[in-house]
Amino acid sequence: MINQNSYITISLSDLKQNMMVIKTGNIPVWRKNKTGQFVIVPLEKLEQFLGDNEKTDIVFFIDEEWKTQIITGDEDAIKKMIIGQNRVSNTGAEFYQEKRIEFQKMTPLQRDKKYQSVLFSLQSIESSKKDLSEELLVNLIEAVSDAFVLNKATFEENYEDSSNVSSDHIKAMARNTTSLVQSIMGIFKNSSATNNFINMLGEKSTGSTLDHMNSVFLIFLPLCYFYNSYFAKGKIARIRSEYRSKYYKYYQKLIPENPPESLEDVFNGGMREIPMDKLLQFSIGALLHDIGKIDNIDYFEGQGAYDRKIIMKHAPISYNMIVKTREFDSEVALLAALHHEYYNDPAGYGISKILFPDSTRKFKTPQYCLTYDISEIKNGRALAYVPIKLLEIVDVFDALTDKTRRYREKEFSIDEALEIMKNDFIEKSLKIDPILFTIFLDYINSHSVLKDKTLLQKLMIK
Ligand SMILES: [Fe+2]
Ligand SMILES: [Fe+2]
Repeated sequence: MINQNSYITISLSDLKQNMMVIKTGNIPVWRKNKTGQFVIVPLEKLEQFLGDNEKTDIVFFIDEEWKTQIITGDEDAIKKMIIGQNRVSNTGAEFYQEKRIEFQKMTPLQRDKKYQSVLFSLQSIESSKKDLSEELLVNLIEAVSDAFVLNKATFEENYEDSSNVSSDHIKAMARNTTSLVQSIMGIFKNSSATNNFINMLGEKSTGSTLDHMNSVFLIFLPLCYFYNSYFAKGKIARIRSEYRSKYYKYYQKLIPENPPESLEDVFNGGMREIPMDKLLQFSIGALLHDIGKIDNIDYFEGQGAYDRKIIMKHAPISYNMIVKTREFDSEVALLAALHHEYYNDPAGYGISKILFPDSTRKFKTPQYCLTYDISEIKNGRALAYVPIKLLEIVDVFDALTDKTRRYREKEFSIDEALEIMKNDFIEKSLKIDPILFTIFLDYINSHSVLKDKTLLQKLMIK
């Protein structure tokens, strides 16, 4: 169901008159973007419009529910509007390019100001405390897109050999990135994503590189919350009791030298919740995971013409870009570096062997498949790091459902993508993690509408 919110237009003079009410009441003011979707106007921007006495073409809106709070000079000017389904036209790549050029031209101060307005628009979403409806999602995507492109401009400048980007600017960007992710963590904590959240995200995506970043980040973060909910709901006990009959066969293949006899042998220390401070770092990693990606080439090992060498470079470039800022946790950079490992499958192209060569590994054969401690990846004790395996699943899912991958005619539906993941990424060759995939299936099932109601049953690991 498409959420039908009612908006009313509000004239510039009424906006001016009601500015105090709008500020103190945190009343979101909206405009329509180029694709006809409603987006929140950050307060600072609004004040700029109001300060400008020249006539503006922009039409402003407020939610109808705030109507009684606003004093209007001209009742006739209020026209009720119902939002229809606002599909994004296929110009995502152009928007992205436009934004890139605009943000690249900005001075550090202008970028910081722009970032502040993005953070403000997120606060409006957070304080609205509504479920993540279509309108709020559009705003969220717009905010994350702006933030990402701002980040990219600064990351790229800083990465250039001849650059002399001031450390203050880098620090401000890192601080803003952290605030952005904290704010979105707050949004997902307070307002539950609707049961068609994943479908909506797919609908809004135009398949641009930028949309990939948004989607991966916006799917990853609530997935981590969902993963954490498994512990309160006692679902881990079920995985544990079914381990031998369902999962053992996969993990035995991964480390035949030390076949894990129980769930506690798969995850060193047993399966655990992700603490909030770690979740913040992992989510920053998810946001920046492809920061070094060149625009508009395919990064997935699909069929057809593509240059694998160029593609493989994006993981180390992303890693180096993050490290060079000196402002992010080492785990953030490692998420970027290692999200294409695929459990050492030949299709993988992570750089764990380069970062942690065998000669520096204390353990020559891994003792565990998964760990929550990054040092165990470095010393070779475990094969893979839990947050990276979660990110990898989301990344593959988004690549399959992405609209503009050149190696296939059309994107796969959610149903098809899940089937491919199970068949090609687990059964044919073990690339993604089977237990984490089970949780992911459950997550997708509760946040999207599947065409085949029996699909989940079919894809569950047996
Ligand atoms: Fe990637
Ligand atoms: Fe990616």
